[in-house]
Amino acid sequence: MFELNLDISHFLDTYWQKKPTVIKKGFIDFDDPIMPDEIAGLSMEEEIESRLVYKVDDQWHAESGPFTDFEKLENEGVSLLVQAVDHWHVESQELVRPFRFLPNWRIDDLMISYSTSKGGVGPHIDNYDVFIIQGLGKRHWRVGKKNTQQPISGHGVLRHCEPFDAIINVNLEPGDILYIPSGCPHEGYAIEPSINYSVGFRAPDQNDLLSSFTDYNIDNNEPSERYIDNVMQVREKPGQIETQELEELHRVMLAKCQTPDALIPWFGKMVSEAKHELDIAEIEQPHTSQEILNLFEEGAQFTRLGGLRAIYFEQAAYYLFINGDQFDCEGFTELGHHLCDQDEVGSEVVELLQDDTGALNLFTKLVNLGYWYAI
Ligand code: SIN
Ligand code: CO
Repeated sequence: MFELNLDISHFLDTYWQKKPTVIKKGFIDFDDPIMPDEIAGLSMEEEIESRLVYKVDDQWHAESGPFTDFEKLENEGVSLLVQAVDHWHVESQELVRPFRFLPNWRIDDLMISYSTSKGGVGPHIDNYDVFIIQGLGKRHWRVGKKNTQQPISGHGVLRHCEPFDAIINVNLEPGDILYIPSGCPHEGYAIEPSINYSVGFRAPDQNDLLSSFTDYNIDNNEPSERYIDNVMQVREKPGQIETQELEELHRVMLAKCQTPDALIPWFGKMVSEAKHELDIAEIEQPHTSQEILNLFEEGAQFTRLGGLRAIYFEQAAYYLFINGDQFDCEGFTELGHHLCDQDEVGSEVVELLQDDTGALNLFTKLVNLGYWYAI
């Protein structure tokens, strides 16, 4: 259990998406949930995204995993980064929970890095908000003001930027947290072998949203209004697009998203999809509903699979969106919403399941899909 030592309201009012801050002793008596050899072990897996970053003759190098040899980690100035560790490592997944004071749909994943002394990824800018937790070791961090720098184009995955003035210049120790809003240049170098945990947040941009919405409409054969000429008169200037034509084009383009409601099915599916693979266990023998109830009665807790995304809309309370699919919870919204709001469920849901076969069937289905599992 990781307990955040933070005045959350003050943090949200003063810092969230505004300016970087250091939360000294954000986790008191921090105990690393993972060790360097386990991080290396994860980076050997095909389905897990990982990267080795180091500098040779002043040139940055970024290699993608899976890795089979770790000789480079015997040198100084090397970092091994593993993406979406919350999908694969149960103890690490616990580190995401303290940040659920922010909504599920905004939380992205947990990236973990192991750096040898002097290791870092260089000065760069991320386009997401991030909490960087210091685990093992110490690391020196510098962070600059928001939106003062641009990533240097052509620097690819590392998103490097020019040197910047630091408004934060700090050595992090185990349990300290550095919050960096998107757009703030930053760089961190290990003072000694060091583990860092980055809880990142998603914020889709306009282009992502519009292209994904259109892809969804095409994939689902949604009707697509075509431009028509409301009135056509003889044109003396055939080279010209008239104002009313441009206005009509604009209207056709926006017609599909006139109301927020129209976005719900698409956005629910899109935002509940995991960007990284999930560690879904194969269920050999599906559970019956009665077996699920028995497990609860024996005191089982069910936990949501690491990285599984489950959300609902205030405006469409009858639908749950889980891992890119829509589920109906009409008549048992209390259970449905509870599943999305909590990482674990236990005896508190037994009555809700007993009282409604729809609720019990849905939960049974979710367990049989491998989305919730008994612990
Ligand atoms: C790291 O943990 O090495 C990099 C984290 C970051 O700067 O985003
Ligand atoms: Co970064």
